[in-house]
Amino acid sequence: MVPKWVCAGFVYLLLGLILNVAEFCNGGMTSGYQRPNNLSFDMPLDSDVFRVPPGYNAPQQVHITQGDYEGRGVIISWITPDEPGSNTVVYWAENTELKNCADGIVVTYKYFDYTSGFIHHCTIKDLEFDTKYYYEVGIGNTTRQFWFITPPKVGPDVPYTFGLIGDLGQTYDSNTTLTHYELNPAKGQALLFVGDLSYADDYPFHDNNRWDTWGRFIERNAAHQPWIWTAGNHEIDFAPAIGESIPFKPYTHRFFVPYEASESTSPLWYSIKRASAYIIVMSSYSAFGKYTPQYKWFTNKVTEVNRTETPWLIVLMHPPMYNSYVSHYMEGETMRVMYEPWFVEYKVDVVFAGHVHAYERSERVSNVAYNIINGLCTPVNNHSAPVYITIGDGGNQEGLSTAHSHTTQPTVKPALDMAFLTLRTGLMPTSVGIGIKMDMPLKLTHNGFTTDTGNHRKSPL
Ligand SMILES: [Fe+2]
Repeated sequence: MVPKWVCAGFVYLLLGLILNVAEFCNGGMTSGYQRPNNLSFDMPLDSDVFRVPPGYNAPQQVHITQGDYEGRGVIISWITPDEPGSNTVVYWAENTELKNCADGIVVTYKYFDYTSGFIHHCTIKDLEFDTKYYYEVGIGNTTRQFWFITPPKVGPDVPYTFGLIGDLGQTYDSNTTLTHYELNPAKGQALLFVGDLSYADDYPFHDNNRWDTWGRFIERNAAHQPWIWTAGNHEIDFAPAIGESIPFKPYTHRFFVPYEASESTSPLWYSIKRASAYIIVMSSYSAFGKYTPQYKWFTNKVTEVNRTETPWLIVLMHPPMYNSYVSHYMEGETMRVMYEPWFVEYKVDVVFAGHVHAYERSERVSNVAYNIINGLCTPVNNHSAPVYITIGDGGNQEGLSTAHSHTTQPTVKPALDMAFLTLRTGLMPTSVGIGIKMDMPLKLTHNGFTTDTGNHRKSPL
């Protein structure tokens, strides 16, 4: 489907490298890429972006993600609708004759009255860094071929560009987001997805056919570059009223991640190295309090990050820890209380979140001194604190968040201050209260990054 460009209505952000430019988030100019504040509707089932590939049992919904800790592995996933077919992936490096095979597994699941197709997951490992590979899935006349490029070897000065998308859904705006990302001249090499994928749970009985349409929709990009998954609330699919009481069932069957490579015990939280970045994915909808598996894993793992190898430390989570919008106000507060001291102590560079369908970006501030009775609840500038970025809405049918909270609850005040700061200084005049359509590339090279609304110096190590 050719996207309906409504460029005048969109704000576009670009994250790129800049060295030692600004200590905090000094502002720049927003671009002319603004998102209209209209509700967008899901594309109909017969949309061409949802087209089933031709041929009996043809593999569909092909997508890849990183398959190991350092980027020499890829998990290739696809679905065959009629019968299991083959679990094998045939792959080869560009400019070589030698073809390799790897065998995966196939899983299925039922959800209420829906039965999934045959969901294949195959991990291929020990690939060469920085190399283009072709791969084929399927058998007979329904073989389909794709390609991907492995990342460069992990190292401190390895340039790399990530895309960022969250809350995507499958509306006409979702399609515009994906197209905009694909056409972006910054050319994202892997995509960090901050949760809320298909929004199938917005349908009666969580109609899982909308998971299938979403899988076919994203294939055009996700089959060619890894999408690094974070689970959002729309992945929980907890619906005991219809007999579905296993959280994350569709999500965990459809989207495998390399969690064991980072010694995690759950696919909902894990970490990877990629180029110059160490990326920690957290699950806000799993237990994360003290002594929980996620807490124990995180607090071990964050201490192990070798910043001379991966100087960039990036955390992905779904609901933001700082949020001044009315929408989902304070939902990230418990996560903030538990993890902000760790983020500051270990100098996380940036925390990306979605969930709130709008853009917001913080100064490097922390609010870790507050102990309920000491009154120190106002955040302070802190060079060791991350920049918190709520990346903005990917286009789902729920629409944009526009209203700001004016509550003066002490622990919320920091976010309000930040929002007011941006207004006062005119840093993001078009974003506050409007929301920005996000598919932003994050270009990492040495010790900084910038958006077209501001520059950020890397956290001092
Ligand atoms: Fe969400």
